[in-house]
Amino acid sequence: MPEEFTVTPYKVSGDIDYDVLVKRFGTKKIDEDMLSRLSKYGPLHPMLRRGIFFSQRDLEWLLDQYDKGNKFALYTGRGPSGPIHLGHLMPWAFTKYLQDTFKVKLWFQLTDDEKFMFYDHLTLEETKRWGYENALDIIALGFDPELTNIFLDTEYISTMYPTAIKAAKKINFSTIRAVFGFDNSYNIGSIFFTSIQTVPCFLESMERGKKVPCLIPCGIDQDPHFRITRDIAEGLGFYKPALIHAKLMPSLQGSEKMSTSTKTDTTIFTTDDKKTVKRKIVNAFTGGMVSVEEQRKKGGNPEICSVHQYNTYFFEPDDKALAKLYDDCRSGKMLCGECKNLLFEKVWRFLEAHQKKRLQARDKIEEFFVRD
Ligand code: TRP
Repeated sequence: MPEEFTVTPYKVSGDIDYDVLVKRFGTKKIDEDMLSRLSKYGPLHPMLRRGIFFSQRDLEWLLDQYDKGNKFALYTGRGPSGPIHLGHLMPWAFTKYLQDTFKVKLWFQLTDDEKFMFYDHLTLEETKRWGYENALDIIALGFDPELTNIFLDTEYISTMYPTAIKAAKKINFSTIRAVFGFDNSYNIGSIFFTSIQTVPCFLESMERGKKVPCLIPCGIDQDPHFRITRDIAEGLGFYKPALIHAKLMPSLQGSEKMSTSTKTDTTIFTTDDKKTVKRKIVNAFTGGMVSVEEQRKKGGNPEICSVHQYNTYFFEPDDKALAKLYDDCRSGKMLCGECKNLLFEKVWRFLEAHQKKRLQARDKIEEFFVRD
């Protein structure tokens, strides 16, 4: 029986088949032609080479516009419901690559309203506080302050509201129910919310008083919001936003199906100390054999190994080095313990530097934030 899976902004479950998802959502796979086109603007990012950013909408059109001198703006966001982990940082690092490569403006939305409305356990004060905490991680990645606007929905609502209600008037409840799978028990703020996530697609156009193309790098789970946006954009006098989608980021415990352990230590937070990071990596799921002898003989299982996934997604940008890790695992030459140590060294080197920049970011907040 084919495996069932669900992907919406509010529910991700099952084992995702990304080829099936591309068909279901009606997006386009990033193919060789697109990769070779993108490589003309600068070296291809590893997340493109490795098919982590794997799907798109209207990217050809967006690049045609760019080639004609019509620059786009980037838009991405974060729902501030808690601390940032490495999986969150990965698509943002890719967003920075896009900003650096194309030298374009970025709008970064912090949806304190969304997380307040969707989570019973969070107050608005808490989501707002998480918004400011999360912004430190965003700033620490090195976005250009001249080209980056970060905002909290509740602090930018006067600017957004007229466009939000124009969008809302074009969206039926039945669409929301079908797209997000909401039933009658959802509060009405949740039902309205997608109109708030729509507006930043148009902020650059609104600011400049003319139509400006927009590119949204995001996890593919966010695509349903923007399908709605794309349906109404032209009716509101804007271009449809283009998208570039990432696969959903791995957990240290593998997928639900692979993991037998309880769901602790599934992820590394950006504020974890050295000991904690070490423990989490030592406990990570690898799919290795039960004994050293067996693994030497049969080799490990990089296909399902979370350590290998971390290397692939972020921590081993060098393709040759990654291939060697893969081969040495497969052949049984390198065992999981050694491989975990290597990953730990790389993760900690990255995190130590990130934590310093994160502290310094406290003094830079005002360079990045926009408010009504
Ligand atoms: N809804 C997203 C979340 O819960 C946050 C978000 C807002 C976002 N705007 C976005 C994500 C644009 C990607 C792109 O995480």
